Amino acid sequence: MSLKIAVLPGDGIGPEIVGEALKVLGVLNRSFDLDANWQEGTIGGAGYDADGDPYPEATRRLAHGSDAVLLGAVGGPQWEMLDKQLRPEAGLLGIREDLGLFANYRPTKVHSQLLDASTLKPEVIDGVDILVVRELVSGIYFGQPRGIETVDGERRGFNTMAYTESEVRRIGRTAFEAARLRSGRVCSVEKANVLDVSELWRSVIIDLHASEFSDVELSHMYVDNAAMQLIRNPRQFDVIVTGNLFGDILSDEASMLTGSIGMLPSASIGEKFAMYEPIHGSAPDIAGQDKANPLATILSVAMMLRFSLDRADLADKVEQAVENTLDADIRTVDLAFGGASSVSCSAMGDAVCAALEELA
Ligand code: IPM
Ligand code: MG
Repeated sequence: MSLKIAVLPGDGIGPEIVGEALKVLGVLNRSFDLDANWQEGTIGGAGYDADGDPYPEATRRLAHGSDAVLLGAVGGPQWEMLDKQLRPEAGLLGIREDLGLFANYRPTKVHSQLLDASTLKPEVIDGVDILVVRELVSGIYFGQPRGIETVDGERRGFNTMAYTESEVRRIGRTAFEAARLRSGRVCSVEKANVLDVSELWRSVIIDLHASEFSDVELSHMYVDNAAMQLIRNPRQFDVIVTGNLFGDILSDEASMLTGSIGMLPSASIGEKFAMYEPIHGSAPDIAGQDKANPLATILSVAMMLRFSLDRADLADKVEQAVENTLDADIRTVDLAFGGASSVSCSAMGDAVCAALEELA
């Protein structure tokens, strides 16, 4: 039976990078034995422009009827003046919440070919292989109450960082299970020295570990220290489990270990649905110029093949094709350091497709 993918290119560079990922899926259909079809929908600013809604009902139905969702990126300056609930970001948070995508896997793997592309010393980052497991549908992103009010003649803005025990338990379980398939170490990151919500987080993680995952090595770290340790000695980490806001920040930081945020894929998984997207944004400054790095989106397709489509064999092929392309010194501009020559987004996509064909 044909696998059905909902494709949501979104805004900015979204359509360009997703276009390259679809070329890769096309090769898998033609030259391997994948049987996937896809249908496009709008999200973010594109959803607002087409339907007045950053997460249109038609997109919701498309996502609910698909085996997986592939998303590009959302956002851009032209939508910044809209009411918050109409902005592109509301569409992204809306689809995450609607599909119940509580677990966001953000693997940060340093590719040896790109050691020089990082701003950090090669000897610090060589061999880095970290999985950030970010809670994605709760915490301060969604906590109530929130808003901007006027008190004593001045405005006051507020949000609420809240987690229930069951929310911590399910993301903790995700992280421990992931660690069992890796080096077996979990570092739980919070701010338990200051925040009540973090104190609860830590105690739930400790209990869960003791009752179900005592074979996994567990450590705890305050988020400020974790931010420092990530650049001081990143190899100490295997799996990092953390809340929505801390995970957003630390995963961008971790991406710089790899040289470019344009390299990092992600998978957002819930009980019933899953969505795959690069961790980077819509890069309005280079949109439409065929300059973006499509590898994060192509590697997101590999995660989709592995987690949703039950095709780990093809995921391996896509990842190998990316490695072979990097081995051939093909770089988009974000990866081309010290005056090295670079190729366009579409040329990078073509190069990965050619490398993939060679593995058929
Ligand atoms: C991410 C992004 C989003 C987030 C934005 C675009 C709402 O930064 O996926 O990391 O904050 O989650
Ligand atoms: Mg982010």
